[in-house]
Amino acid sequence: MTSNIKKYSGKVIQQAYEILKNGELLAIPSETVYGLGADATSDSAISKIYKLKKRPHINPLILHISSIHMVEQFAETNQLFYLLSNYFWPGPLTMILNQKKNNNISELATSNLSSVAVRLPDNKIFQNIIEKFNNPIAAPSANISGNISPTDPYHVYEDFGNNIELIIDGGQSEKGVESTVIDIRSKEIVVLRYGPITQKMIEKKVVCKIKKNVRDKKILSPGQMFKHYSPSKRLIINTTKPKKNCSFLGFGDIMPDRHFSGIALNLSIGGDLNEAASNLFKMLRFLDKTDTQEIVVAPIPNKDVGLAINDKLKRASS
Ligand code: TXA
Ligand code: MG
Repeated sequence: MTSNIKKYSGKVIQQAYEILKNGELLAIPSETVYGLGADATSDSAISKIYKLKKRPHINPLILHISSIHMVEQFAETNQLFYLLSNYFWPGPLTMILNQKKNNNISELATSNLSSVAVRLPDNKIFQNIIEKFNNPIAAPSANISGNISPTDPYHVYEDFGNNIELIIDGGQSEKGVESTVIDIRSKEIVVLRYGPITQKMIEKKVVCKIKKNVRDKKILSPGQMFKHYSPSKRLIINTTKPKKNCSFLGFGDIMPDRHFSGIALNLSIGGDLNEAASNLFKMLRFLDKTDTQEIVVAPIPNKDVGLAINDKLKRASS
């Protein structure tokens, strides 16, 4: 029974608050993907996240905050931070800052790094929970490590069942892919993970050099080392013509011809990359459950949020 999936209400917010206070975990909707949240100041709560997700301890978590003031308590802010948070928060942008000395953040949450990742999610439910809790909430995507990230409460249930007390139903996540992660500790911005906030969008707002470090040898974002987002079936990308025994994930007018008898879905018939991003994980999860051997995906334009889509597809297919 999916009795732990609950719609948002005052009662559910109270329950969320109590779960966090008790050092337990819950799943919270966000505009990107669902998060598995815990008190960022509690070692024992954070260790439950790593255990339940089977996540390597060297992969740090994002701290979700509800105000700039909250960030200032534990991180060294800078001019870039104020500029970018003003433009893009609340929203799908995670920024890496240095930590302040002697803060109360769990060292497990930041994998003992001197830095910390922060984000203010654009979701009222998530914001209300952080505000009520009045402390940062550490939340990775609410999936078993390596699985496809969840964009609705039933995806979370597929991975964790009743092993978490509460999954708050906030409907389908609007963006559908995880936040953009950037390191802003120096004068140059380093992009560590592609996401809905694109380099172009950032360049329009700040005059600053932007470097890509998404797949470099020197890995700054530990999460980028791991194989990710994998369906259990083989995933073949950049293909326009699927074979018989597979399912097909099309984009725009790239769809199989009328002789194809398998299952075919389309990420966005109109060729809209934002729509494709929001459908990506949901459709991959669906096709993974069908009775075919492989999932074949059409080429996706490598621009804007298409960079994030392709990065995820590449990891899932390698
Ligand atoms: O959209 C999102 O970001 C979602 C929602 C729930 O907010 N969260 C999410 O968390 O995707 P997760 O844990 O799946 O990915 C966090 C990424 C990882 O690649 C991790 O390595 C990186 O952020 N990260 C966290 N702290 C970092 C740090 N101090 N330095 C570099 N990378 C960091
Ligand atoms: Mg994740």
